[in-house]
Amino acid sequence: MIERVKSPRRLRGTVTPPGDKSISHRALLLNAVADGRAEIENLGTGADIGSTAACLHSLGVEIGEGVVHGVGLGGLRKPSGPLDCGNSGTTMRLLAGLLAGQPFESMLVGDESLARRPMDRVVEPLRKMGAHAELDPLRVGGRPLHGIEYSMPVASAQVKSAILLAGLRATGTTRVVERVPTRDHTELMLEAMGAPLTVVDRTVSVETTDRLQPLDLRIPGDISGAAFWIVAGSFHPDASLEVLEVGVNPTRKAILELLPAKVMRLREVGREPVADLQVGTIPAAPAWDWDASWSAALIDELPVLAVAATQLRGTTRIAGAAELRVKESDRIAAMAKGLGAMGAQIREREDGWEITGPTVLTGARVSAFDDHRVAMALAVAGLLAGGTTEIEGAEHAAISYPNFWRDLESLC
Ligand code: S3P
Repeated sequence: MIERVKSPRRLRGTVTPPGDKSISHRALLLNAVADGRAEIENLGTGADIGSTAACLHSLGVEIGEGVVHGVGLGGLRKPSGPLDCGNSGTTMRLLAGLLAGQPFESMLVGDESLARRPMDRVVEPLRKMGAHAELDPLRVGGRPLHGIEYSMPVASAQVKSAILLAGLRATGTTRVVERVPTRDHTELMLEAMGAPLTVVDRTVSVETTDRLQPLDLRIPGDISGAAFWIVAGSFHPDASLEVLEVGVNPTRKAILELLPAKVMRLREVGREPVADLQVGTIPAAPAWDWDASWSAALIDELPVLAVAATQLRGTTRIAGAAELRVKESDRIAAMAKGLGAMGAQIREREDGWEITGPTVLTGARVSAFDDHRVAMALAVAGLLAGGTTEIEGAEHAAISYPNFWRDLESLC
């Protein structure tokens, strides 16, 4: 599907991004193995969340409209065939952790993009825990686990979470040590469900347990979805936007340190902080003096921050982002291609980009490379560009943000 985007004279209005993708996956997976029924409000609507729900259904978990009927940590059923994780790395990696300690073997498969993504990063620690775990296709389960202490070689909340979920059924203590902090939604939710979990500095420890309490919760809006509107609103010459009910967990909100959205009505929903954001045109700003250590916390926002960098005065060198090469697409190459076609001065580097601005972007025909975040980031570029931008593969936005094109139209 092709979407055409033109820069409107004024960008105005209010949008509410979908429920946070990371928190939604965890709300389903953890409540699935809790002891009883949980109600979830504002669950993410993207196709990735559908993949997690479908896999859990194959494992014998009943999931209705906003309700999960937890079967307990020992209550999952051997699936009758491979579990299809679709496009979702979070589904595959977190499920691998949850299923590693089950008495049966599960096979996890996905689409072409997911099949290319690295799964050895979960297989390796799971094997250290005594798990039977094989690759291509990924198969886990059938052997008892024991706790380990694991120092994370790559910054990845998915890998951290997979190990913690496996740790719930492993004998003894499981410890994960992070060099670079990553999103902590798994830790917050496990604590709220009564799991024996402690966090000291950058070490998370979990003890074996036989029960989790079900957790009713309302999922905050996805700040990684809000990021598209934060960038569009900051750089469009006549913008005033409100983005409502956005999750502003400290491990996720680094974008608010780069772009000055006004944070209003800060409150707590469950254990997660939530706020409404007001975004408007910012005055001309200098290039960012990028620190490579920022990239882990901004990993999902980097494609749209590359768009932002085209509007800053001087050269921004985004580094420390090699992980982008193994996302739903090679996002470094995909954004260099798309923004390059729109006239940006952008050079691909092994671990990021070198982007010089400000550039008046011009509409072009560009490809989403089958990647939701590339599709939406290029749409934001289109909102700032002269002429028409045609985005091929626009339908991929539905992986995380099904209403994206409708919201975009409403602001124009
Ligand atoms: C996620 C962690 C990040 C992020 C992804 C969601 C999660 O991936 O990019 O969109 O929910 O834990 P990595 O763990 O691969 O860094």
